[in-house]
Formats: sequence, C-alpha cells, structure tokens
Amino acid sequence: MQHSVEQLEQQIQVLENRLLDAQKSASLGELVGTTTHEFNNVLMTIINYAKMGVRHKDEATRDKAFAKIMAAGERAAKITNSVLGMARNRNEEFDKVNLENIIHETMVLLEREMQKYQISVEYDLAGVPAVRAIGNQIQQVLLNLLINARQAMQSGGRLIIRTKFDRQSGMVDLVVRDYGSGIEPDKLRKIFDAYYSTKSGPDESGKGGTGLGLHACHKIIQSHGGKIRVDSTPGKGTAFTIKLPAVTTAEPPLPQMDATHMTIPQNTQNGFGAS
Ligand SMILES: Nc1ncnc2c1ncn2[C@@H]1O[C@H](COP(=O)(O)OP(=O)(O)OP(=O)(O)O)[C@@H](O)[C@H]1O
Ligand SMILES: [Mg+2]
Repeated sequence: MQHSVEQLEQQIQVLENRLLDAQKSASLGELVGTTTHEFNNVLMTIINYAKMGVRHKDEATRDKAFAKIMAAGERAAKITNSVLGMARNRNEEFDKVNLENIIHETMVLLEREMQKYQISVEYDLAGVPAVRAIGNQIQQVLLNLLINARQAMQSGGRLIIRTKFDRQSGMVDLVVRDYGSGIEPDKLRKIFDAYYSTKSGPDESGKGGTGLGLHACHKIIQSHGGKIRVDSTPGKGTAFTIKLPAVTTAEPPLPQMDATHMTIPQNTQNGFGAS
C-alpha cells in the first residue's frame, strides 16, 4: 500500500500523541502511588499517637500526642488540597498559571520521598509573574524532572528549585538543579529521545525506566512556546531550565510552535554552575 508523505506525517502525529498520553498516564499513576503512600504514612502517625494518648494518661504525653495528631491532620489537609488543585487544573486548556503554586503543590507530595532518599530541597523562588500554560502539563514536567533528579542522587544530595523572571525576553525560568551523577556528553544528545533510558526499570518506589519522561517534557514545553535546556557535568550534577512565556499584558499572545527550540550545549563542562 502506498502512503503519501502527508499520510505518513499524520500517522506519526497520531503515534506521537499516543506516546504523550502514555507518559501522562504513567505520571499520573506514579502520583497516585505517591499520594496514597503519603496519606497512609499520615494515617499511621495519627493512629500511633492516638494509641499512645489512650495508653498514657499523664498530661505531658497526651499533649505531645495531640500535637502530633494535629500536625499529621494538617499535613493530610495539605495533601488533599494538592490533589484537589490537580483536579481543578484538569481542564487541558491554556490559562494563567502560577508556577510557584505548582511547585508547592508538587512538593507536598514529594517531600517525604525526598527525605527518605536524603535529598535536601532548597527553594529560590523569585515571586515571578504568571505564565500562559496548561497547569497539569507543567506539573507533569516538574514531576518528571524532580524524579529524575532524585534518581540521579542515589546516596542523597542537594536539589535546588529556582524561578526567575527574565524581563528582557518576557520569559519565566524554572530551574531544577541536582548535584547527582551528571550525564556524559554522548548520552546528553539522546536524553530527549523517546524510549531512551539508562535505568533498568522502575525503582523500588515504582518510578522511572520507560525513557518517555524527558521526551514528554520536551513536547509539552514545545507546545507551550517555551524552551527546555540542560546543562550537565558528569560527576557533578545536572540543571534543567524551562522557559515559559510570562503573562505580562492583559491579552497574552498564544503560544507559537515555531518559537521553540531545545538547546543542548556542546561543551557540557562549561554549562554547569552558570546560573
Ligand atoms: N537529572 C538527571 N541526572 C542524570 N541523568 C539524567 C537526569 N535526568 C535524565 N537523565 C538521563 O536521561 C535518561 C532519560 O530520562 P527520562 O526521564 O526520559 O527517562 P527515565 O527516567 O529513564 O524513565 P521515565 O520515562 O520513566 O522517566 C535517564 O534514563 C537518565 O539516564
Ligand atoms: Mg524520568
């Protein structure tokens, strides 16, 4: 059967969209897993301190138990809010999005996991303007970058999440920097390819290994008229920078597909530590 170039291009587009759907489901699955796990931890805390309060009648122990139960309850509320935030953002439409809210909502779900892997998370948030984006997709990007960063630091380390507004270009930068394994220059070229992975499969928390994460990130940022850039030094760490158009005027421009490109520095040695 003969296919025209146009037909083949259409088919490629259909397959590409399926791939993106698959990554979205995988991300969502990971998130549900993490949330359930987190919620369970909170419940265990509440149950254990309630038991302690029942067993020990003295005031000091009971005060402590109540304080712990209260803190756990507040954490549970934060987790629910974060999940509700995701549900609210479910309409897959461009809207004004506050990146820093998305960062907080995402980290509520990941902070325990980061603690478990001995990763200290540092924030450098600049109070940036809103961006024109599909909130859930940006959260999907952020989750992928954060999980990759965590997986690059097998024996713990530092993770920095930074936002910055570049007035000149009108773009908001979101940087996820880790001090992990880094990426060798020959591999750096392939990381955005579909199915490229150096992981043997999902880790013990059920995350990673399909090689679709960064591919999806690139596609999503592309459809937002943004840019994604990576700077990495083997043995030192990696920084991913995402640039998204800020909403600065009353009528923000719609995303432009052709305003997009991806920068992979040739000399990765110089890339790290620049920003
Ligand atoms: N922060 C990082 N530090 C070091 N290597 C990284 C980092 N992020 C990505 N990589 C490399 O890029 C590869 C591709 O990443 P990508 O997120 O697309 O796939 P994955 O993490 O292997 O699987 P998944 O699709 O489940 O996320 C990884 O396998 C890893 O080798
Ligand atoms: Mg990944």
